[in-house]
Formats: sequence, C-alpha cells, structure tokens
Amino acid sequence: MKFLTFIFLTTLFYIHIKCNDIAFINIGTINIYGDEFRMYRKTFYIPRYFKGNWIDAATICSSYDLEFASLHTLEEYNAIVPMLRRVLNFYRDSYYISGIALTPLSIDDWYWSSGTRIEYIIPWCPGEPNSHEELCMSLQWSQNYTNVCFNDANCSGMALSFICQKREMF
Ligand SMILES: *[C@@H]1O[C@H](CO)[C@@H](O)[C@H](O)[C@H]1NC(C)=O
Ligand SMILES: *[C@@H]1O[C@H](CO)[C@@H](O)[C@H](O)[C@H]1NC(C)=O
Repeated sequence: MKFLTFIFLTTLFYIHIKCNDIAFINIGTINIYGDEFRMYRKTFYIPRYFKGNWIDAATICSSYDLEFASLHTLEEYNAIVPMLRRVLNFYRDSYYISGIALTPLSIDDWYWSSGTRIEYIIPWCPGEPNSHEELCMSLQWSQNYTNVCFNDANCSGMALSFICQKREMF
C-alpha cells in the first residue's frame, strides 16, 4: 500500500514537473461572433519543445487552463493556416486538435471534444479518414506546405505538436 502511494505521488510529481516545464507559443488571435451577438476572442497556442499523443494533448491543454483547440467554422480553419505557416520553421509535423469520432471511419460524424458536432464539410487530406481505429483528429501539412488538411490519427499514438486555445469574452 505504501509502495502504491509512493508510485501515485511520484507520478503526480512527475506530471507536475513535466507540465510546469512546458512553455507555449501564442500563434495568433481571431475575433468570433458567437451566439446572441456576443463577441469573443480566441487565441491559439502551441507548446514549445514539447510533443505528446492526442490524450496527452487534451490533458496538458486543460492543466494550463487552456482548451484543446477546436475549429468551429471554416473561417476559423482558414484563419489558423497562416498562423501555423508563420511557425513552420519550428513545427513541420502534424498537430493534434480536439476532433474526435464516435463511429470508426465516419467521414462526417466528428465532434470537438467539447461535445459540439463539426458542422462543416471537413477538408480531409486525400484518402482520409482511413482507419477503423484512428478516432482522433490531427492537422497535417499538404506536400508543398501551403495548406493543412484533416487526418484521423491514433489517439494514443505518435507524439506530435498540438494546439490549445483560450477563449475570452469581450
Ligand atoms: C500546392 O499544392 C496544391 C495542391 O496540390 C496546389 O493547388 C497549389 O497550387 C500548390 N501551391 C504552390 C505554391 O505550389
Ligand atoms: C496506437 O498507438 C498505440 C501506442 O503506440 C499502439 O499500441 C496501438 O497499436 C496503435 N493503434 C493502431 C490502430 O495503430
């Protein structure tokens, strides 16, 4: 029992240290008109020198009082592309975002982890989604790095960069 407690405490300590080490780069802000004419501002962040799988990403965003990023409209998707392009020299791989599928291989039945259904036609990468077991979403660069497209990824798979967000009401 003492041993288990020790493992539990060291695990907590380790996560704490690990999280406190992460610095985030603010990659940009957009203004959004929400319900009832309220305007809010959404800022996207990418951890600097840190990668994790989709599940790590969800945990880490929330442990910094951020949300795991969601792109609720095509406007938000269009806005994030130039932001990602500006930091491309540092992050050339894919980025996890909070999209998640409840049904394997569903092309148009995806949700943000906040529970909101993705309402637009998702700009999937060619041939994606392509797996029964990949239910978590990532953004991936096109071959010439001009655009990002959506990919279905293994939730507990490869460590990648990821995107968190903060929303503030005006
Ligand atoms: C990049 O690739 C896309 C699709 O393959 C193409 O439409 C676009 O013209 C290319 N852009 C450049 C700058 O090469
Ligand atoms: C997802 O990643 C985990 C961890 O690397 C691995 O064990 C599992 O086999 C992967 N699943 C698929 C479908 O690739």
